Amino acid sequence: MAIINVEDARKAARRKLPRIFFDYIDGGSFSETTLCANEADFARYELRQRVLVDVRERDLSTTFLGKAHALPFALGPVGFTGLFWRSGELAAAAAAERAGIPFSLSNFAIATIGEIRQKSAGPLYAQLYVLRDRSLMEALIEDAERHGVEALILTVDTAVTGVRERDERNGFRSLDRITPRLALQFARRPRWCAAVLSAGFPQVGIARGRPQFGSGALAQAGNLARQIEQGLTWDDLAWLRERWRGRLAVKGILCAEDARRAVGSGADAIIVSNHGGRQLDGAPSTISVLPEIAASIGNEVEVLFDGGVRRGTQIVKALALGAHGVFLGRAYVYGLAADGERGVSRVIELLAAEVSITMALMGVRSFSELRQGGSALLRQSLGTGSGGM
Ligand code: FNR
Repeated sequence: MAIINVEDARKAARRKLPRIFFDYIDGGSFSETTLCANEADFARYELRQRVLVDVRERDLSTTFLGKAHALPFALGPVGFTGLFWRSGELAAAAAAERAGIPFSLSNFAIATIGEIRQKSAGPLYAQLYVLRDRSLMEALIEDAERHGVEALILTVDTAVTGVRERDERNGFRSLDRITPRLALQFARRPRWCAAVLSAGFPQVGIARGRPQFGSGALAQAGNLARQIEQGLTWDDLAWLRERWRGRLAVKGILCAEDARRAVGSGADAIIVSNHGGRQLDGAPSTISVLPEIAASIGNEVEVLFDGGVRRGTQIVKALALGAHGVFLGRAYVYGLAADGERGVSRVIELLAAEVSITMALMGVRSFSELRQGGSALLRQSLGTGSGGM
């Protein structure tokens, strides 16, 4: 079936992946209320249609984290992507480079920063958690510096891991060997097995050569999650700020108070994010808090955004409400699981076309016009979205 939107890519991913991995990507924590709200709440805003504007020339380029990019979005950090497609991180990074947008490498990726850099010269961000083992963090920071990473993304919303019930059922993060049930799931996806398992079960990049994390990404997933520092505080942000001279974005901000505190602690950007509804279930959708956070920060630092983005219209709404750039999560990973690098390129191309058409029909030709127009380009809708506005 042809992929003509992100939902098609999602369906294709479901057909290609063993259930344990599709559910890991697709699911959220507990009742998945926040996961659903992220997507649904975009409908709280309608787009104002403006006509008789010459829109022959449109410019989708945007500047964030110190560089101009061809499109107003980037690929965000997603763990274990090398399990969803062979060398998945390299495939996604290549697609991002071709499209002229940044790629973010998760702390829990299968590929290492060095491997990405060998294959791709595109803008690269590295995501870090605060890990209990500070010497490991220091080694990762040095790695990022050595490989010319352009920004570090410190994810701060994961002091404890949210319970994702689909993962509980499938045993993701609790299996350290392939059980008969899992073997059956794998047997139903022979092409995935042949591609991803042909050289043995993939290992998480930062766990390679560190036997304390176990062997095989499944065992490592659980052990690494336990490495995340539960006692992380603002002092840890200051600790990182002292050691990293490049750009620093703090990911997982959901209220104006924390946004201000992150700015005060030296962040160059904040990322409004609830981890795609995978952490605090019941937290507000990201689009619903974006306006107040953007207003509280003004132009002091950049406001970046993620959560629930499956359509170009949603990217346009986030930009109009104050985001300087948007990160894709599941949207690109569905494309990756469906068709590797080609699938990621397809998702990027579809979203770029959707953004371009949407802006044209709104009579907007560039990101600066979109920012200037701001929320006046939108209209609050009656009676839609999870908040019942
Ligand atoms: C994530 N996310 C994430 N974030 C992070 O900082 N480090 C990580 O390792 C991961 N891993 C991860 C795995 C999977 C499968 C998903 C779906 C998400 C969160 C991610 O960066 C982003 O915040 C959300 O994905 C955004 O929501 P949408 O766009 O996926 O709805």
